[in-house]
Amino acid sequence: MPDTEGFVRAAHVLGAGGLVSFPTETVYGLGADARQDAAVARIFEAKQRPTFNPLIVHVADIDAAKRYVIWTDLADRLATAFWPGPLTLVLPLRQDAGLSPLVTADLPTLAIRVPAHPVAQRLLAEFDGPVAAPSANPSGKISPTQAQHVIDGLTGRIEAVVDGGACGVGVESTILGLGDAPTLLRPGGLPQEALEIALGGPLATRSEADPLTAPGQMLSHYAPGATVRLNATETSDHERLLGFGNVEGATLNLSPAADLVEAAANLFLHLHALDAQSDAPIAVSPVPDIGLGRAINDRLRRAAAPRDH
Ligand code: TXA
Ligand code: MG
Repeated sequence: MPDTEGFVRAAHVLGAGGLVSFPTETVYGLGADARQDAAVARIFEAKQRPTFNPLIVHVADIDAAKRYVIWTDLADRLATAFWPGPLTLVLPLRQDAGLSPLVTADLPTLAIRVPAHPVAQRLLAEFDGPVAAPSANPSGKISPTQAQHVIDGLTGRIEAVVDGGACGVGVESTILGLGDAPTLLRPGGLPQEALEIALGGPLATRSEADPLTAPGQMLSHYAPGATVRLNATETSDHERLLGFGNVEGATLNLSPAADLVEAAANLFLHLHALDAQSDAPIAVSPVPDIGLGRAINDRLRRAAAPRDH
């Protein structure tokens, strides 16, 4: 845990329009003051992120969230149940929110969440303002779950990294659209099943083709240098196996005990390690599509998708 002086300095950098990477319980974020156009613009520049892909705003608590979005009973119920935690809610943006239009890519909605990591919470309390933060990786690459990943990917492009160790959850937040019907926009660190229990019924899921509900869900994403092959039950000589469960010959294993929580925490860590090792193709063992497995499979499918570059 950084000392008080460290948090004061990090908050000062944010206030001055700088970029500060900080840990959340999901992945490291790349933070900027969401009210400052120039600061938010620098996020897109540092990540080489297309500007049509909007950002998530991080706030300290429910009261702070209400300053930026039109709050509803349902939002209140879900936020009370799951915040702080790995759930992002997409709600109508308030006219008087005062955020840079770059944050929302001019959409009428805002994605907002209250992170649970103690370092993120201390930073938000010290800064006392809305922090726009995508994952702190170059656009399309593997998300960072350790400070070193951020340094490796973005050195020279950002002012600071607050080091809070490894992220516990390891996959990004679950994104829930709260329009007419609650809609799962991205599977993530809060399992869909937990949301369905809270909502008392099945969730609608988004259509890959709908640019409004899924503005930045690129098919190729989280991509290491090597090609990735999914659902591998055997490997050829030149492939490296990223295992799951009790499999033989794995170069790395997401969870030898087939524990999905452990596998999520290891996913980006192991992909970074394999990426640093060589460009030999990666084969991945099947991962069950339940609980956190849905988020793991979503990220793996994007890692394996054809690349447009
Ligand atoms: O766990 C997380 O959510 C991490 C940490 C840092 O909080 N952040 C993160 O941000 O994953 P990013 O930028 O990598 O992913 C944000 C996603 C993008 O797919 C974006 O398109 C979507 O959220 N998004 C943002 N605003 C939206 C909106 N108004 N409507 C629908 N989707 C939105
Ligand atoms: Mg990201």
